[in-house]
Amino acid sequence: MDWGIKNRLSQLIQEDGHCFFLPIDHGYFQGPTRCLEEPGKTIKPLLKFVDALFVTRGVLRSCVDAGCSKPIILRISGGTSMTGNDLANEGITTSIEEIIRLNAAAVGVSVFVGSDYEHQTLLNLAKVVNECEDCGIPVMAVTAVGKEIEKREARYLALSCRIAAELGARVVKTYWCEKDFDKVVKGCPVPVVMAGGPKCKSELEVLEFVYDGIEKGAIGINLGRNVWQDANPVAMAQALRAIVHEKATVKKAHELFNNVKNKKAACA
Ligand code: 5RP
Repeated sequence: MDWGIKNRLSQLIQEDGHCFFLPIDHGYFQGPTRCLEEPGKTIKPLLKFVDALFVTRGVLRSCVDAGCSKPIILRISGGTSMTGNDLANEGITTSIEEIIRLNAAAVGVSVFVGSDYEHQTLLNLAKVVNECEDCGIPVMAVTAVGKEIEKREARYLALSCRIAAELGARVVKTYWCEKDFDKVVKGCPVPVVMAGGPKCKSELEVLEFVYDGIEKGAIGINLGRNVWQDANPVAMAQALRAIVHEKATVKKAHELFNNVKNKKAACA
């Protein structure tokens, strides 16, 4: 592996082999998502607990301090919206010059396997890998499901992850699934990180699936709504960090969540 790629990956994946990425890219197709109306305010108390930010160039420029020491994973696919015909109809939005100018540690590109735009989005990924690898920039593939949440099962996820890795992604972001998630991870020759999807019913549910996913081989998380849409985002970030980086059990992480939450309530 080239030094540049290794160096950038080492900014993202910590010495323990694990990572906690905070995605705030949702606005690129959802608009001002709840609790992300002002991304700069959302991330301020959370930054110290995460390893990297996943963000578009527009929000990076306008809402993230250029003195920010956290590495940036730049979201560079898009061109669709919640109100359009098909979320899968994505193109590449950001040039290689811009990626370098913004000092990205990596880029993120969505692929929509099984959709009408499978071919287009897989070639988006392959072309981005060609350009970024030349510049020592790792590519994270995002196995997206659009509005089809039922696709979050092992056979589909394993297929998407493997294809993304075969096309050259250095990291693959996918969803956790209850059954056979270990097969998703085993079938993917590059590290897998988990996204969260829409907000879960309880914090415990989030801590449980993250713990299970890490036990089954995922190296970490790229979790957005279940962090910053939580009523106690800082407590949630700390509890997740404990699972990802400190080998905390679900019970310990939940206790930590409650301690931080109660301390905040006592100070208020
Ligand atoms: C949205 C994304 C997000 O990065 C990804 O879905 C993770 O966020 P969440 O945990 O909220 O699902 O790719 O386009």
